Amino acid sequence: MEINNVLITDAVDQACINLLKENGINVDCKYNLPQEKLLEEISDYDGLIVRSDTKVTSKVLAAGTNLKVVGRAGAGVDNIDVKEATKRNIVVLNTPGGNAISACELTCTLITALARNVVQGAASLKAGRWDRKLYSGHEIYGKVLGIVGLGRIGREVAIRMQAWGMKTVGYDPIVSAEEAAKFNVKFLELDEIWPIADYITLHTPLLPETANMINSNVLAKCKKGVKVINVARGGIIDEEALLRALEDGKCGGAGLDVFEQEPPTNPVTLKLIQNAKVVATPHLGASTSEAQIRVAVEVAEQFIALTNRNQKYSSVAGVINPSALHSNK
Ligand SMILES: NC(=O)c1ccc[n+]([C@@H]2O[C@H](COP(=O)([O-])OP(=O)(O)OC[C@H]3O[C@@H](n4cnc5c(N)ncnc54)[C@H](O)[C@@H]3O)[C@@H](O)[C@H]2O)c1
Repeated sequence: MEINNVLITDAVDQACINLLKENGINVDCKYNLPQEKLLEEISDYDGLIVRSDTKVTSKVLAAGTNLKVVGRAGAGVDNIDVKEATKRNIVVLNTPGGNAISACELTCTLITALARNVVQGAASLKAGRWDRKLYSGHEIYGKVLGIVGLGRIGREVAIRMQAWGMKTVGYDPIVSAEEAAKFNVKFLELDEIWPIADYITLHTPLLPETANMINSNVLAKCKKGVKVINVARGGIIDEEALLRALEDGKCGGAGLDVFEQEPPTNPVTLKLIQNAKVVATPHLGASTSEAQIRVAVEVAEQFIALTNRNQKYSSVAGVINPSALHSNK
């Protein structure tokens, strides 16, 4: 594939720009472009690289008359109209592996922070109080961690939390019990996980099958005091149901990095974030220097692989719409 001019519209690590340039690809960085400006300029480029801020809508794709590839430096392509891109034979790719460790580490941090009321205790002390009784917690040693989604991140979380002595059980429609046993996760059906898990952590994409997966019916089947962690995608938890469960004590706490709407403005999400038992972070799962360098390099490597310019780079493992790739060959 001929890729000569690439536009980058969200700040990616310099490593991406350097690697593309070293391989003879012109790069323009124009961050925070208003949509009208993007629509005017996009036809000058055959490649576009974004993170999550730029919305690659059907209009952008239609205006990109020379566009052959859109790359997302990160996991997931929620901000790209993949259906429209596929119709136009524009390849869409992402870098799902690059931030797995960072997302995993944030998940583990939220689990341990919830167990010991670290965030609430620290805020209370900063506010001048000395509330030792109020913030007494519990050990996670021996507790059951239910992992929904045993892909890249889910299995890394399992391995780390086993070191803390947690019993790990999990479910994934494409992972067998034998495969799960290799990383010491006992494979169970979801309905077997709900009543035994002390903590439930979500690591699936947002799909029709996973939307509102944690809802009032499921929470009713859970242990009283269950804690729920979501560092995957907003929308996997029914936020209204979670809020009710936190308020009536069924749910003992939640660690949330992602929300139905980001940044959140809807009253239910805002109330959830304010709940005393919730530790909420503003979608920080991939926000580490290491992950940002990794995803920047991975997206550039895949663009170079598409051009066939450098035999060192041959993998385009993050392609979302292989049919567009095949029709470009
Ligand atoms: N918070 C962040 O900043 C951040 C960073 C990285 C990734 N993520 C998100 O984390 C999630 C997991 O990422 P990953 O890299 O591990 O993805 P992955 O593709 O490696 O794993 C996802 C797993 O979910 C499984 N799955 C699909 N439907 C399921 C269902 N109904 N029940 C149970 N499992 C199901 C899949 O079979 C797959 O094995 C994704 O949603 C990703 O976008 C968030």
